[in-house]
Amino acid sequence: MPQPTIDAETCIACGACVGVCPCLVYRRTKDGVEVHPEHADWCFACGQCMAVCPTEATRVAGFDYAHFPPLPGGVADPAALEALFLSRRSVRRFTEEPVSPEALGDIVRLSAMAPFGVPPTDVEVTVFGTRGQIEAILPAVYTGMEQFMQALKNPIYRFLIRRQMGAEMFDALVEHLLPLIPPMCRMYRDTGFDAATWGAPAMLLFHHAKRSVSGKENCYVACTYAMLAAQALGLGTTMIGIMAGVIDMDKALRAELGIPDGNQCEISLILGHPAASYRRAIPRAHKTVTWVEQPPRA
Ligand SMILES: Cc1cc2nc3c(=O)[nH]c(=O)nc-3n(C[C@H](O)[C@H](O)[C@H](O)COP(=O)(O)O)c2cc1C
Repeated sequence: MPQPTIDAETCIACGACVGVCPCLVYRRTKDGVEVHPEHADWCFACGQCMAVCPTEATRVAGFDYAHFPPLPGGVADPAALEALFLSRRSVRRFTEEPVSPEALGDIVRLSAMAPFGVPPTDVEVTVFGTRGQIEAILPAVYTGMEQFMQALKNPIYRFLIRRQMGAEMFDALVEHLLPLIPPMCRMYRDTGFDAATWGAPAMLLFHHAKRSVSGKENCYVACTYAMLAAQALGLGTTMIGIMAGVIDMDKALRAELGIPDGNQCEISLILGHPAASYRRAIPRAHKTVTWVEQPPRA
């Protein structure tokens, strides 16, 4: 239990904790602020009351103010942020230069700042820090893809997979993604060209315990943060959906990589120093954007 408390000695009754707590744990009284006696066990240990308290009076079990770094001040310059977003591309050609362990460490650390459904985060990351580590798993990855394509020829397996995935997602996969797999495998077998990880010198694999709230979404949000952090460090990245799917299906490979049995691999991110530099952004917009002009119900 997070056991939120307020130190009456140091609390200045500013009410900042009342103002941010998502679980309504704190309340104002005529004398100050207190932990609401009926809401104390609603606390899910997000840490916001400690991030906001000016006198370190609020406390949540398991957290220590010593580990709450002061904010650097200011927020991202909107123009710099726009430049970062516009210049981000899925990079699939890399130089031979490795990604330093320091950069990878920073990217992983910053990606943990991403929001997640319910604390504590369930996102787990497996870091491939060298091209050699990625290449070591490629034979199993391509074999996995070939076996999957072969298995799909069996109508019973196909029916079961379609039911497990949902018909719409499966049909979209058959239409858009699966046709790419046989030529990818052929290219790898014939020439060694790897269109799954594109020769990248590093890769992050995001996974989570199956028994977790919004684990899938948390992995994607964290992966997006990692992508932008890498971009800010001058690196290029691409999210690779197919790697996670294939690793997930291969029990032996998962064991080799130390991915727990009950975990689901969601998404991977390849990283490296881009071999090309782009000159312009690509025009992009959401499929639809609808502004609600009036309350939908009177
Ligand atoms: C969830 C997801 C999975 C993706 N999987 C792959 C993949 O397996 N292989 C690949 O080359 N690109 C993959 N991409 C990259 C997309 O193809 C790319 O983001 C898209 O073409 C838009 O290009 P841009 O990122 O340069 O804007 C993936 C992207 C996302 C968001």
